[in-house]
Amino acid sequence: MNLSPVALVGEDIRSVEARIRALPVPPAAPVAAALERLLAAGGKRLRPALALLFGRMLHAPEEPLFHLAAALEIVHTATLIHDDLVDQARIRRGIPAIHTEWPAATAVLVGDFLFAWAAQLAAAAGSIAVVQEFAGALTVIVNGEIRELSVAEAEYSAAGYESRIRAKTAALFEVACRCPVLLTGDAAAAEQAAGFGTAFGMAFQIADDILDFTAESASTGKPSGQDLARGLLTLPAINYLASHPGDPDTSALGGGNSDTDIRSRLFEKIRASDAIEQSRASARRYIDRAVESLAPFPKGEYRDALENLVKSIV
Ligand code: IPE
Ligand code: IPE
Ligand code: MG
Ligand code: MG
Repeated sequence: MNLSPVALVGEDIRSVEARIRALPVPPAAPVAAALERLLAAGGKRLRPALALLFGRMLHAPEEPLFHLAAALEIVHTATLIHDDLVDQARIRRGIPAIHTEWPAATAVLVGDFLFAWAAQLAAAAGSIAVVQEFAGALTVIVNGEIRELSVAEAEYSAAGYESRIRAKTAALFEVACRCPVLLTGDAAAAEQAAGFGTAFGMAFQIADDILDFTAESASTGKPSGQDLARGLLTLPAINYLASHPGDPDTSALGGGNSDTDIRSRLFEKIRASDAIEQSRASARRYIDRAVESLAPFPKGEYRDALENLVKSIV
């Protein structure tokens, strides 16, 4: 992904990071360490960047916009800490995940702390509608994560997959794009921006799931091949399953069967198959939809940045 369009709001992002660090109470040591490590280790800051690009494009008030952007990144960070514990993923942003260096209980509570801090930041944006959006998105995201704990065979379909990623990933991108526009009071434009956010989030998660098959972990900062190894079917695997119904190895995909040899053989077959390109085509359809939804917004550098950012996902 090419992050250069984000440079347009680079200065704003630094103000947002200062707000993120201005914790309301002296944090317990693991909270302070977790926050500092995760912020210092990088992360693309995509959700705050989207909020800032929409907010600047439509002249949202600056202080509420910064609080909103900070809240988005903190919700995201909290979901990553919990997600890595749930997924038993050991590396995040190129450094050890929190639960590998502290007990699981600490990782749970650090995540809780950050959810609470995000709620305060969202409230500081001074808009009930924004707070409602955050609360609504969080229930959807957590529900999506819970659904992914045990994906039933009925969900081994592109439609089941799409509804899961809509919940666990696209919901937060939707809020990131809708809320800055809500701060301007233009409800119709906010819905239009939300449509961009959903499509962006869908394309983004599909691309992330493709990278789990194709990328070296050095470039993503997290290990590859994790989804299939855990028995989680993402779009490339679902596409492969649909086009190779006779492949006996696909029986290893069921939740109960965890033959690692078969799974690694399958991993290589999926990598080499059309399923990857088909998945890219799905991501491109969402990218096209996102670009189309920008049409009513004012032409200029912010709209160009949004368009270039979404186009660089695949
Ligand atoms: C990771 O999100 C979780 C997914 C939705 C795939 P990002 O890829 O935005 O994570 P960071 O913030 O850049 O580390
Ligand atoms: C991302 O889910 C976490 C949330 C969106 C809550 P994944 O488990 O698919 O993402 P990575 O691969 O760990 O970043
Ligand atoms: Mg994960
Ligand atoms: Mg996960």
